[in-house]
Amino acid sequence: ADTLGAAAAESGRYFGTAVGPHLLGEADYAATLNREFTSVVAENDMKWDATEPSPGQFNFSRGDQLVDHARSQGMEVRGHTLVWHAQQPSWVQGLTGDALRQAMLGHIDGVAGHYAGDISSWDVVNEAFEWDGSRRQSNLQQQLGDGWIEEAFRAADAADPNATLCYNDYGTDAVNAKSDAIYRMVEDFLARGVPIDCVGFQSHLDSTSDLSTYRQNLQRFSDLGVDVEITELDIGGSGAAQADAYRQVTEACLAVSRCTGITIWGFTDKYSWRDDVTPLLFDATYQKKEAYHAVLAALNNA
Ligand code: G3I
Repeated sequence: ADTLGAAAAESGRYFGTAVGPHLLGEADYAATLNREFTSVVAENDMKWDATEPSPGQFNFSRGDQLVDHARSQGMEVRGHTLVWHAQQPSWVQGLTGDALRQAMLGHIDGVAGHYAGDISSWDVVNEAFEWDGSRRQSNLQQQLGDGWIEEAFRAADAADPNATLCYNDYGTDAVNAKSDAIYRMVEDFLARGVPIDCVGFQSHLDSTSDLSTYRQNLQRFSDLGVDVEITELDIGGSGAAQADAYRQVTEACLAVSRCTGITIWGFTDKYSWRDDVTPLLFDATYQKKEAYHAVLAALNNA
């Protein structure tokens, strides 16, 4: 196949990208997106600050724009993210105790409920662990205690019973203390019937990142009984070294049967949160980079 999406589809997987819906009017941006990708996720527009700027007042305009675009192109939509310590609207930041709990549950119900039926998988909770495997001391953790993650998953399941529900984090792309802690949480959730279906591995990497346990790490979560998704892939670097790292990540997903797809965190180096390290598959003029060809070849060899 001669596009990322078509090549990934040959093994039943999606190939997606983060999108800024405000960029869809740029002809080269839209043409590249529509040609190459079979899944999209909003880079910012489904986050709490964007979707509920004041209590109970939801704004779905940009998210709906992305969902409409995806539907017109036959693309899936990932949802990112229902609960996160960052990009919370200011009204949430001062809440304590049960008021924060009700805000979190109301937010999940409002957003996951609105998009129910449109979202293939939701990043229900994002980035709740530290490098050493302890819980991040966010307002959610401090005010609600360890149970908040489980409460969030139960609320998401009630609002959208059909979406794949994911826990998503960065720095978890190796067997390490952080991924060990998430592994134990998933094991516990599955044992107690807490609805979790998937773990997302953001994979914000560099050409020099140690990928020696990347596949093994995906495999152990898959063996536990959840899907795994590569959710925010970008790899700083250039040329052959960058291409080789992209190839390794792609091959790791393809080697794990429950790795259902790969999302890159943007596609053109023109628009990246890491634009200083040119981490994406197309350059700033939408030309295919060496990394693009490496990913496509890996998908076609599967
Ligand atoms: O919306 C305002 C806009 O009104 C204003 O004019 C502009 C001026 O700087 O700022 C805009 O907000 C920025 C927003 O991106 C949209 O461009 C924020 O300042 C900026 O902080 C925000 O950055 C995003 C970041 O998450 C926030 O934490 C990045 O685009 C986005 O790529 C990044 O994505 C995260 C994932 O959600 C979770 N995993 C890590 C990943 C990278 O940090």
